[in-house]
Amino acid sequence: MFLDLDTVTDYRRSLFNAIVAPRPIGWISTLDESGHANLAPFSHFNLVSTAPPVLMFSCNAAGDRPEKDTLANVRATREFVANLVTWDLRDAMNQTSLNLPAGVDEFDVAGLEKLPSVKVAPPRVAASPAHLECRLLQIVEIEPTRNGETRSSVVFGSVIGVHLQDEYVDAQGRFDVARTLPLTRLGGSQYATVGSLTELPRPSPPIA
Ligand SMILES: Cc1cc2nc3c(=O)[nH]c(=O)nc-3n(C[C@H](O)[C@H](O)[C@H](O)COP(=O)(O)O)c2cc1C
Repeated sequence: MFLDLDTVTDYRRSLFNAIVAPRPIGWISTLDESGHANLAPFSHFNLVSTAPPVLMFSCNAAGDRPEKDTLANVRATREFVANLVTWDLRDAMNQTSLNLPAGVDEFDVAGLEKLPSVKVAPPRVAASPAHLECRLLQIVEIEPTRNGETRSSVVFGSVIGVHLQDEYVDAQGRFDVARTLPLTRLGGSQYATVGSLTELPRPSPPIA
């Protein structure tokens, strides 16, 4: 099957999520200008650079809808925390994806405890084994090109603080992904965690 997207318009838009899978989930905590906490998951999320450490997430919104609380809060306060979602936290994560009125604290809705951050104001999810404190770097706007498409705002953040739960750091100082069991999103409402693991060192350059 080949879909020429210049001419085929009636394809399932969600197919991209199934093709680009599994995707990590950024569980983004923010504060609004009055100090109300907000928490929401984003699977259009990834690390884009390690030195300097930069990550991104993308908020979409139909043209007739206001932008999501997360995006409005980041625009206003320029800070957020990316909390790691684990397999055990999947139901709580899902609860925080509810479309609730601005100012409603999804930590409370999902029964999640908060921890204070060190360098930014938004709180951390206490049950998450890793947190990345971020300062807004840039927001890139992706405009719709055809009817029915959504506007997306891609938020880039500089990571300025890293929290790791000590029990998941191994003797070599590596964060143990196999034990942490991060939750990833596939297509639709399918999720997965780490499957079979292998170590694949990069090939050494040939000796001249
Ligand atoms: C696993 C998962 C991943 C999601 N990924 C995204 C995403 O990448 N971009 C987006 O705009 N919404 C995404 N959503 C939907 C938002 O979480 C949802 O719109 C949420 O209500 C936004 O909250 P806010 O208005 O408090 O920011 C996702 C939902 C789930 C459950």
